[in-house]
Amino acid sequence: MKVSFGTMSITQSAKDKIVELLEKGAVSSGKTVRDFEEQFAALIGTKEGVAVSTGTDADMLALAVLYDFGAKRGDEVIVPALSFVATGNAVLHAGFTPVFVDIDRNTLNINPCKIEAAISKKTRAIVPVHLMGKPAQMDIINDIAQKHKLYVIEDAAEAHGAVYKGKNIGTWGHMSAYSLYVAHIISTIEGGIVLTDNPEMADILRSLRSHGRFCKCKQCVISAGEITCKKRFVNGQDRRFFFERVGFSSKMNELEAAVGLGNLAIFNDILDKRHKNLIYLIDSFQQFAPVLTTISEGKDEKIGPHAFPVLVSKDAGFSRDELVAYLSDNNIDSRNLFLSMPTQCPGFEFLGYSLGDFPEAEFAGDQGFHIGVHQDLGEKECDYFIEVVAGFVRKSR
Ligand SMILES: Cc1ncc(COP(=O)(O)O)c(C=O)c1O
Repeated sequence: MKVSFGTMSITQSAKDKIVELLEKGAVSSGKTVRDFEEQFAALIGTKEGVAVSTGTDADMLALAVLYDFGAKRGDEVIVPALSFVATGNAVLHAGFTPVFVDIDRNTLNINPCKIEAAISKKTRAIVPVHLMGKPAQMDIINDIAQKHKLYVIEDAAEAHGAVYKGKNIGTWGHMSAYSLYVAHIISTIEGGIVLTDNPEMADILRSLRSHGRFCKCKQCVISAGEITCKKRFVNGQDRRFFFERVGFSSKMNELEAAVGLGNLAIFNDILDKRHKNLIYLIDSFQQFAPVLTTISEGKDEKIGPHAFPVLVSKDAGFSRDELVAYLSDNNIDSRNLFLSMPTQCPGFEFLGYSLGDFPEAEFAGDQGFHIGVHQDLGEKECDYFIEVVAGFVRKSR
């Protein structure tokens, strides 16, 4: 038996579309990307979707939008200390200073009680991350943001299909940023998308992903060879070569969008299978508490089933790494549960934080790992994983 971490669903409709696009020679961002944006935004429930190259770019471009809304380079952005490193990298690459807040060990998400202490005159935004698809406490976070006049950008990279208090994750903030990387719930292989209800923000995102250019129409398919734009020439001048802001090169291509459209067509099936696997593992892991713990799904939420996280207690009698190595020996692939970005990632040392500043995030960084719950796994693979873990715990304690 083999339990892989991720999978990739490429539907027959996606394959057919890819062949059609290749034969037409229409592969750079065009109508297929526009269709994907529209369908993804409709699925989550926002007016606009702007597809980009990666989830990291989705975070980065959403943040860069804030320069059109009064932010200055070097201003501060609040992020949880624990996330995939991309969240912190995106803040820095967008030109802001990340200010980290510790997480709550039970949710793996930013601890809302610790946010206000991190707010300064330079704070412009909060970026909550819905880690492992578990919704951050968006009602409390939005109240804090409103009180301090801050923007909220949800890092929903791992939270496709998550719901919190009756409202879809991805619709709580001013913008939300998704990764569409292979192991994620809806995938375009590589890719990302930013969602928003604000048409001005969406226009700026379209400009930012294409070098900051003036030209940012929602329906633009100019690069697919269909040059129909009536707004392109103003007073005889080509507005496509007028750049309004410091931009990025971050478009999605047609082939990726075709894979994404295929995934959207089977989204409910993917989500149901992954959610079933996740809840099965959460329930089964009760038997290992308090040696091994995980997250839970509250009555007022639905987790976007990205993966299954596990924390190994410090007095387990074995280390996280010993368990992970044993899983690997038994063909079960896993990933560590990320790191405390400011104190366990050397790239962030220059920010001046010290080990011990974020005990909860550091605990997850030292003691946590996660395994896949993807659509090509089922009860048989979950049972095998549980059996291997039970065997290890029995022999190690
Ligand atoms: C929480 C989080 N944010 C951002 C990203 C970045 O996404 P990508 O790998 O598509 O750049 C990821 C990727 O896994 C992620 O898990």
